[in-house]
Amino acid sequence: MEGYHVTVFAYGQTASGKTYTMAKDQPGVIPQAVDDVFDHIRRASENQEFLLRVSYMEIYNEQIKDLLNPETVDLKILEDRRRGVYVSPLKEEIVTSPRSVMKVIQRGESNRHVGTTDFNEYSSRSHTIFQMIIESRERGATPEPLAGQSRRVSSAKPGAVAVRFSQLNLIDLAGSEKATTDLERRKEGAYINKSLLTLGNVISKLTDLKTGPAHIPYRDSKLTRILQSSLSGNAKISVICTVSPVINNLEESHNTLKFAARVKNIRTRAEMNQIMDDKALLQKYRQEIQELRGKLTEMNDFFEKEKLQELTQLKQEKLKWEEEMAENQLVRCAQQFYVDFLIGRL
Ligand SMILES: Nc1ncnc2c1ncn2[C@@H]1O[C@H](COP(=O)(O)OP(=O)(O)OP(=O)(O)O)[C@@H](O)[C@H]1O
Ligand SMILES: [Mg+2]
Repeated sequence: MEGYHVTVFAYGQTASGKTYTMAKDQPGVIPQAVDDVFDHIRRASENQEFLLRVSYMEIYNEQIKDLLNPETVDLKILEDRRRGVYVSPLKEEIVTSPRSVMKVIQRGESNRHVGTTDFNEYSSRSHTIFQMIIESRERGATPEPLAGQSRRVSSAKPGAVAVRFSQLNLIDLAGSEKATTDLERRKEGAYINKSLLTLGNVISKLTDLKTGPAHIPYRDSKLTRILQSSLSGNAKISVICTVSPVINNLEESHNTLKFAARVKNIRTRAEMNQIMDDKALLQKYRQEIQELRGKLTEMNDFFEKEKLQELTQLKQEKLKWEEEMAENQLVRCAQQFYVDFLIGRL
């Protein structure tokens, strides 16, 4: 809410509870995060205004799919200085309440790839990324930034007001797994394991203090490429590791704990993101509203004038009509008088 990017992901072997932890149902991380965001907005709305957008995508067999617009094909991973790494074209929906967010998630969930494996009846066969993009600005703010905090400010226009921009990524990873019996599931499993292996490699390289700066293979999988901005520093990260209590899964649980120990060593330097130009949607919408208000006032003035003209014209017509009526009356009186005169003469 303060303009920092945040990423939360659940990691662990299949059927260990990642989806359960992140899930849309209470007490999942997603509904709790959504409630927290709206609670904050309710408390801060006297002094700040907010614009919230959400998107929901999955990475299935190394293909990115927009869960809110499944017809879209050829989604690409792009990068720019303001947004970092992002996916485009991705449908973003404006949301105004926790209920509207949950409705959007529900719609996305129905398009998600889930299948039955030897280990989990409803196994996530894809990595899903639910994003909330939050823009906020002070009501009646002055252009001065707050003192003493690090921030990213994009090209400022004179007199522009800062808009804080943050992105919350809530990620449910597909589970690492041993080979399963079903062929289709094995193919999916190979992709899942490859991207999780790349995630492990990226984290090893990032946290390997001995080798110093090294090439980080973010581009080896879609998952690590999308997470690049978060993993490389400009985000706060929370990683939830899930393990199975079953003794047969000891090796997998050990690996998950090793992953957790490594991931703890990532050092982040999240910076506050502020936008000073009209790239902020909030700013754009504000301007649009102001323009529309201006147009409405102009139209009202125009209609007022028209109404006044019409009224004057009507008054004039009424006057003319009254004059005509009076004249007709006079003519009728005169005619009556003449008829009476003629009758008198007879
Ligand atoms: N803490 C928990 N309490 C109760 N049930 C749980 C808990 N964690 C997981 N489960 C149950 O265990 C099963 C497997 O969990 P889940 O689907 O979340 O695993 P997963 O890690 O997402 O697996 P996959 O990688 O295959 O998607 C589900 O039926 C879920 O409801
Ligand atoms: Mg799952």
